[in-house]
Amino acid sequence: KLQAVLFDLDGVVTDTAKYHFIAWRNMAKRIGITIDSDFNESLKGIERMQSLERILVHGGREQTYSQEEKERLAREKNDEYVSLLAGLTPEDTYPGIQELLHELRERRIPAVIASASKNAPLILEALRLNEYFHAIVDPGGIPGKPAPDIFLQAAKLAGADPAGCVGIEDSQAGIEAIKAAGMYAVGIGDAGILGPSGADLICSSTKELTLQRLLVSAGMES
Ligand code: G6P
Ligand code: MG
Repeated sequence: KLQAVLFDLDGVVTDTAKYHFIAWRNMAKRIGITIDSDFNESLKGIERMQSLERILVHGGREQTYSQEEKERLAREKNDEYVSLLAGLTPEDTYPGIQELLHELRERRIPAVIASASKNAPLILEALRLNEYFHAIVDPGGIPGKPAPDIFLQAAKLAGADPAGCVGIEDSQAGIEAIKAAGMYAVGIGDAGILGPSGADLICSSTKELTLQRLLVSAGMES
């Protein structure tokens, strides 16, 4: 039986994954590193300082910066990212998400945000979706994706067993995290990218995410 639905945020609830990419690409460019959308797939779902490390390794620059300089680079990226979020409104919620959240609320199935982003509360506020979520995981101080911890913490906040949870993700690291947590993993995006990470169901768009579809494909009809 379905006990909780755990949502990644960026790239699942709204299109903020594109803003993360823009802000990382611009930061990388300022230090002479080029990142393309293929490489960006390996950044999705990855915590801020870890993302910076991956970019520096990608550019062969992992030894160049002090901890202080790395913190400055990450801060500059975040400042640009937050300025890109300024125009976010409820209309930016991906199609089908509000309807799914509504159905979950009617059925009293908790929805929890399982994102690595420290900006999650700000984004939910801008989208006016707070009222639909039972909780938002605080990613501070727990291992990031692909480790299962963020999803396990989300299940705990919902009072649910991992085996009764469905996790929804747009990233390879996130799908791996859901599977490592022992949950049913729904991928949003390209099967060629998310299939190898172990997604149980892949939807090309959030429009396909109805409660009925989740229940049937996860075999959790009650
Ligand atoms: C999500 C995004 C990543 C981002 C991470 C940290 O997982 O998919 O691209 O790096 O959150 O976000 P933050 O807003 O805290 O920098
Ligand atoms: Mg994501």
